[in-house]
Amino acid sequence: MNKIFHLVFNRQNNIKMRKHLIKILNLGFVLVATSTLTLAEKPNDKNDRTMKEFKTTEFPALPYSYDALEPYIDARTMEIHYDRHHRAYFNNFVSAIKGTALENSSIEKIFAEVSKAGDAVRNNGGGFYNHVIFWENLGKGTSKPSAELTEAINKTFGSFDKFRETFSNAAKTRFGSGWAWLYLTPDKKLAVGSTPNQDNPLMDVSPIKGIPLLTIDVWEHAYYLKYQNKRADYVEAFWNVVNWDEVNRRYAEALK
Ligand SMILES: [Fe+2]
Repeated sequence: MNKIFHLVFNRQNNIKMRKHLIKILNLGFVLVATSTLTLAEKPNDKNDRTMKEFKTTEFPALPYSYDALEPYIDARTMEIHYDRHHRAYFNNFVSAIKGTALENSSIEKIFAEVSKAGDAVRNNGGGFYNHVIFWENLGKGTSKPSAELTEAINKTFGSFDKFRETFSNAAKTRFGSGWAWLYLTPDKKLAVGSTPNQDNPLMDVSPIKGIPLLTIDVWEHAYYLKYQNKRADYVEAFWNVVNWDEVNRRYAEALK
């Protein structure tokens, strides 16, 4: 009887322990998820940081796992793209501004006069910033454009489909390497365009000017492993993984 009591008691204790462990693991998961969410929810803070803060800040985390956007963007491409290409731009940018007055300037101010800063700052600063925007405007889920953004898209392009076609064409026809953008012009209107290399609409050297809302990287490193030379297929796949919540947030922020 004593033996049976011990067996039952130990079994109950084991179950309790197991439940306790599961609670701890769940709490850990929630904490990790919450911290990731917090990071993803405050991307605009980065725009307000000075370069001195960037220098002392670690390379920003990818807001999801490498395989999160499968099958549209494959894990291997994401890993190489983020961990090698993006990281190199970040490191080179930090080196380019080290010991200069730019360390104390906001990234938007640097871009506003990037023609004076030299090619290393222009190419690596753009490479760093553009990828941050790109990662944040990607995600998997069921998000869609807000009522305000939908209204502006319809007013500017006629319909969402027309906007999508215009944006896709800008991405497909950008010769060589570069980026396509949906951006808000200085007079608060939506516009679509593309930039070469690592330029962006915040730069004084760019023929299109405004605040980036949505972007797609059309450098071959963004798609070649999976899509090879078929950029058009990659651009079409992109629409399955647009994080509209982030685009909506950027739009609302840009209107202020
Ligand atoms: Fe890239």
